[in-house]
Amino acid sequence: MSKKFYITTPIFYPNAKLHMGHAYVVTVCDILARYHKLAGDDTYFLTGSDENTGKILKELDGKSTQEYLSGLVTNFKSLYKSLDISYDQFIQTSDQARHWPGAIAMWNKLVEAGDIYKSKYIGLYCLGCETFYTEKDLVDGKCPVHLSVPEKIEEENYFFKLSKYTDILKTKIESGELAIVPDTRRNEILALLSRGLDDVSFSRPIKNVPHGIPVPGDPEQVIYVWCDALVNYISALGYGTDDTTIFDKFWPADVHVVGKDIIRFHCCLWPAMLLSAGLPLPKTILVHGLITSGGHKMSKTLGNVIDPIELINEYGGEAVRYFLAREISVFEDGDMTLERFKDSYNSGLANGLGNLASRILTLSQKHLDKCPEIPEKTDFTEYFALYDSFEINKATNLVWDKIAELDKFIQDTEPFKVIKVDEAKGKELITKMVLDLYTIARMLNPIMPETNTTLKKLIRENKKPEAPLFLRKD
Ligand code: ME8
Ligand code: MG
Repeated sequence: MSKKFYITTPIFYPNAKLHMGHAYVVTVCDILARYHKLAGDDTYFLTGSDENTGKILKELDGKSTQEYLSGLVTNFKSLYKSLDISYDQFIQTSDQARHWPGAIAMWNKLVEAGDIYKSKYIGLYCLGCETFYTEKDLVDGKCPVHLSVPEKIEEENYFFKLSKYTDILKTKIESGELAIVPDTRRNEILALLSRGLDDVSFSRPIKNVPHGIPVPGDPEQVIYVWCDALVNYISALGYGTDDTTIFDKFWPADVHVVGKDIIRFHCCLWPAMLLSAGLPLPKTILVHGLITSGGHKMSKTLGNVIDPIELINEYGGEAVRYFLAREISVFEDGDMTLERFKDSYNSGLANGLGNLASRILTLSQKHLDKCPEIPEKTDFTEYFALYDSFEINKATNLVWDKIAELDKFIQDTEPFKVIKVDEAKGKELITKMVLDLYTIARMLNPIMPETNTTLKKLIRENKKPEAPLFLRKD
């Protein structure tokens, strides 16, 4: 039976170029979205950018905000295009028609629920994280993420009664109504909830943050950027506007995919806001690990940043998707170096899949009159189950196990020799190989959509590739 499936990426800050980490989460979501489409589910895939952040004000360099943002968003979209990302919508939180009504509607709901109050905020703020910190969160007086000294601020702000939701969140997470995957992250959040949540400052004075969505009824204040950003998951579907058709169909989200750096916002703050607004909770928060390079966090200072565009230019988007799917486990931190990338490309694609496809198609073009009858369907129960549990690397390994099996089958049966002595037997072996290759092509659909199409076409036309599918790199 076909179901609906709604999946989201985090919306990225547009103050920097997207790096491999961003490409990673977007690719993971795309693979899951494509899998659900393949399985027949009515799928909606949302991504976007988080634009009402004070960070960008430092980057404008004489440009207007809109000019600056449109340049960055063009870059985001061109990266997505070269990775073949099949998103249904790219939401920008600066979009006053699409996003702002949802953010304002949410704010009004929180007020109606009695969860917003005015109070004085005295404390620390890290602009990099867009987060309020207390002394005990800091390491040597610095933000643990950006290693910079946070700003001291003293402001009259609106607060959200997050503390009120501590117990109910705990119950919903314990019962699995709100699933947090993997368990390590779930336990981390449960431990946090056991210590209790504090209320959070939910607005900033417009005189200090001249950028953002004004608080309804108080033009002196703008909505805190995280409150505003989280709402993207529903504003994009039309929440807060006259047309809520998509919202009614797709909310609640089936999966929000986020990095471990932003789980508190997604596992505590966002569900609390939804509860306060009387809206259903997302079903699953899938927390992925971070990509490191040579064992270190990618950073400009360390010089180990891998630019996805450069990699795509050299190897192609399909090869990048392959690496991310196969070599990185969604649940853990994964290491990526150019060396490791090249090795994986050569063995898995150039010598592996590419070589196998070319051998089989060469034989079939030579010895078969036409493509054999392709079965309507293949049973993918085992393969699909791995996607249902988000084990993308295991699913990818399963495809490459089939590739290895087929490789071994050729070596063991030597159809190129058999055909010379027993034509019927030779053709039978080649037919089996072509059909197995077609199954592999079908399985590649979520991981490498372009290769999926190319291979299926070559098989159906009974043609060997004119050039290697994946050129070996030295
Ligand atoms: O936090 N490895 O945006 P952001 C893997 N705007 N993934 C990484 C990564 C790495 N090294 N670095 C970043 C924000 N990511 C907010 C989100 S959502 C309502 C608002 C990915 O541009 C990872 O998914 O800092 C992480 O959670 C996200 O980018 C943060 O992107
Ligand atoms: Mg960040």
